[in-house]
Amino acid sequence: MSTHTTTAGPAISVRGLEKSYKTLHVLRGVDFDVAPGSIFALLGSNGAGKTTAVKILSTLLKADAGAASVNGFDVATQAPDVRESISLTGQFAAVDEILTGRENLVLVARLRHLKDPGGIADDLLRRFSLTEAGARKASTYSGGMRRRLDIAMSLVGGPPVIFLDEPTTGLDPEGRIEVWQTVKELAGRGTTVLLTTQYLDEAEHLADRIAILHEGRILVNGTLTELKQLLPPAKVEYVEKQPTLEDVFLALVGAAGRKEQS
Ligand SMILES: Nc1ncnc2c1ncn2[C@@H]1O[C@H](COP(=O)(O)OP(=O)(O)OP(=O)(O)O)[C@@H](O)[C@H]1O
Ligand SMILES: [Mg+2]
Repeated sequence: MSTHTTTAGPAISVRGLEKSYKTLHVLRGVDFDVAPGSIFALLGSNGAGKTTAVKILSTLLKADAGAASVNGFDVATQAPDVRESISLTGQFAAVDEILTGRENLVLVARLRHLKDPGGIADDLLRRFSLTEAGARKASTYSGGMRRRLDIAMSLVGGPPVIFLDEPTTGLDPEGRIEVWQTVKELAGRGTTVLLTTQYLDEAEHLADRIAILHEGRILVNGTLTELKQLLPPAKVEYVEKQPTLEDVFLALVGAAGRKEQS
């Protein structure tokens, strides 16, 4: 388990979270907990409010109602402590293309006033299988390598909780698998990971728990096995077919009334 988790309770706790943009009521009472060292996937269609939730949890945005804590700190009243506990990797990479992979990591370590930026960079390059690429400009990296470097940069300083907002959107299948391995490695070391995704297979492969956000609320929250038990297995002649996460997602989202897509 984690060496740097400071809380015994959940790493992330969300209760009755609400957020509107003018008249658009995006989050309508969102509740969930994330256990330390686990991978939690927030699954939802475009516009479901995933990024909004992540922004509130990372203190970039204020909730209208409800409460949330990260690493034991309240996001509204202890924002600096929350920020010390987290890193956020958004959809647009923070990688500087002109610098090498190693220089990017050294830069972040310097900005955070850490001792031995070179050592920190080399260690992260090794962990993310980027040692050889480390001397090359990031502009020469594949999409998967760039994303891995981006995640590595967010880990400088060893935050106990990391938020990954759509970590594999736009990557090819190989790049996605590379990023998945990275995320698994993180959780294996005790880092708590909250990721958002629109990809059902991503949640299926990576997450210890999956929550489906739809029309402002969490429709279901459980392990893949638990979610699959929500639908009876379909019988095809003599072979039992387990429902896929996609079947569960579509049945639930369809049942709740599909929102008009603009
Ligand atoms: N700053 C803003 N002002 C007004 N409306 C916003 C703002 N940010 C988001 N929205 C709207 O709120 C809703 C939720 O947006 P959000 O970005 O949280 O969704 P999402 O689940 O991350 O979607 P995607 O999968 O497309 O990234 C959308 O309808 C979006 O248009
Ligand atoms: Mg988003």
